Amino acid sequence: MKKNIVLVGFMGSGKTSVGKRLSMTIRREFIDMDDFIEKREGMTVNEIFSQKGEPYFRGLERELCTRFAAGGGKVIATGGGVIKDSGNVENLKKGGIIFYLKCTPEKIADNLKYDNTRPLLAVEDKTAKIIEMMREREPFYNACRDVEIDVSNKEIDQTVSEILEYMKNINTEEEK
Ligand code: S3P
Repeated sequence: MKKNIVLVGFMGSGKTSVGKRLSMTIRREFIDMDDFIEKREGMTVNEIFSQKGEPYFRGLERELCTRFAAGGGKVIATGGGVIKDSGNVENLKKGGIIFYLKCTPEKIADNLKYDNTRPLLAVEDKTAKIIEMMREREPFYNACRDVEIDVSNKEIDQTVSEILEYMKNINTEEEK
């Protein structure tokens, strides 16, 4: 079984951009969980949250993570809240290697300053909310990650190279 490459991290840390570039570089299937869910439901994440509620969205995430347990060598960009569910983490770990793209709240706030696609950040003071959520989420990211990459000051290509370097070592280990 070829392991999936699973990207986790806070909203706006670059999981989708890194995942896309990585999948193109190594010619592997790319799945962006939010994108997949939006297409399946025919609604944006904002619409799903407002019309069906967050628990419904989390259910869709869980369903999707169950499928990833089988591996298959995909590149997967998760939604930022996926790792809060221990069953999701178990499934993702079963089928893949988890890379935590760590990013400072300041950089995230800057990345998302014109973004209005994240329902959980639709508040007056976005930066304060990011700091508060990050504090709550950080232990989850730390607990599930196999590898941590600080992406705060990195270009996409640099992050992709670091992931590939890591994967090269894994593959060599597996060949032994
Ligand atoms: C969420 C992150 C979002 C999306 C939804 C909820 C979260 O994904 O799944 O808005 O709980 O952190 P991104 O991390 O891709 O922004």
